[in-house]
Amino acid sequence: MKNYKIAVLAGDGIGPEITAEAIKVLKVIEERNDVSFELMPALFGACAYFATGDAFPQATIDICDQADAILKGTIGLNHEESKKIPVDKQPERGALLPLRRRYNTYANFRPVFLPRSLAHFSPLKPEVIGDGIDLIMVRELVGGLYFGQKEAGVNEQGLRYVRETLEYDEEQIRRIMHQAFKLAQKRRKLLHNIHKSNVLKSSVLWNEVMEEVAKEYPDVQVVNYLVDSAATALCLKPTQFDVMVMENMFGDILSDQGGGILGSLGLMPSACIGPEKAYYEPSHGSAPDIAGKNIANPYSMIGSVAMMLENSFGMEAEAKNVWAAMQGVFADGYSTADLSKPGSGVTMISTVEFGDKVVEKLREMPKV
Ligand code: IPM
Ligand code: MG
Repeated sequence: MKNYKIAVLAGDGIGPEITAEAIKVLKVIEERNDVSFELMPALFGACAYFATGDAFPQATIDICDQADAILKGTIGLNHEESKKIPVDKQPERGALLPLRRRYNTYANFRPVFLPRSLAHFSPLKPEVIGDGIDLIMVRELVGGLYFGQKEAGVNEQGLRYVRETLEYDEEQIRRIMHQAFKLAQKRRKLLHNIHKSNVLKSSVLWNEVMEEVAKEYPDVQVVNYLVDSAATALCLKPTQFDVMVMENMFGDILSDQGGGILGSLGLMPSACIGPEKAYYEPSHGSAPDIAGKNIANPYSMIGSVAMMLENSFGMEAEAKNVWAAMQGVFADGYSTADLSKPGSGVTMISTVEFGDKVVEKLREMPKV
């Protein structure tokens, strides 16, 4: 029997609720397979800060270090509550970026998936959805502006100023390109390279390295897109995209737009992969406004489990079953509040009910 250790960082806001549903799914995977998961819960985010004075405390670091994979919920507080925490200790800067840095999780995969049958979830017209949206954004996750040097102060004219630097070296670009090209080879052999080389020198280097790497993947067609124009194209013709690769900040922004064209950020799971360790998380925030109400959509969290099963534990078939179970719940006409607005024809169910239905579907699937 295989035994895997999973650090479970439920986090803040809706994090604990959606994590609970993800854990139900992991239990069913254990029942169905010759595998056991040792779940190691740990504090992470604002909850960790209030308990220990640190958003990513040493005890959590130790647990993550030991884990075979990390499952992370959501972190963060609303604007007002955030102000109670010193700027550098706030969950994003104090926990999430350090987690990414520690495990060098440079490759972030964010699937944006909506079958034709669920076109009614999307704010886009059914004719725009066509046969469905099925793309993956590959976001560089440990470089660029988010990780560059930062300084703030008062300049010689007495004005407050800030300076943040956007840095990439060619190796950082090369490794994410290899990830993107390899993924493209497994899919439609089409790679959209997203950049802003008409303004940013970082994009000039990005594109140079992309072209060098492309020579190793002659079977993959590359289409170059300026990031601003890609934003429009995602609304007008999302079905043209399959694999999209981009630097950190572009990926942050466009992936939220990905959630927008699906109809909910709750449909955005992700995998963050480093050379030795990977962690899995919803692409969205902690939605403090709906926390504790049992209405959040656990899809992104359960989808993150599916990505973990596939990437960290080699359980590709079970990962597919988890996706299919969730799609099955939608196909039966159910969803959480985000996707079941009055008049939508979708029956509203709670977070817990969604998890229960996924589990029920999963149990019905043929074992692998
Ligand atoms: C994301 C989030 C994070 C990011 C925040 C919480 C720091 O928005 O994963 O997309 O900007 O990377
Ligand atoms: Mg984001």
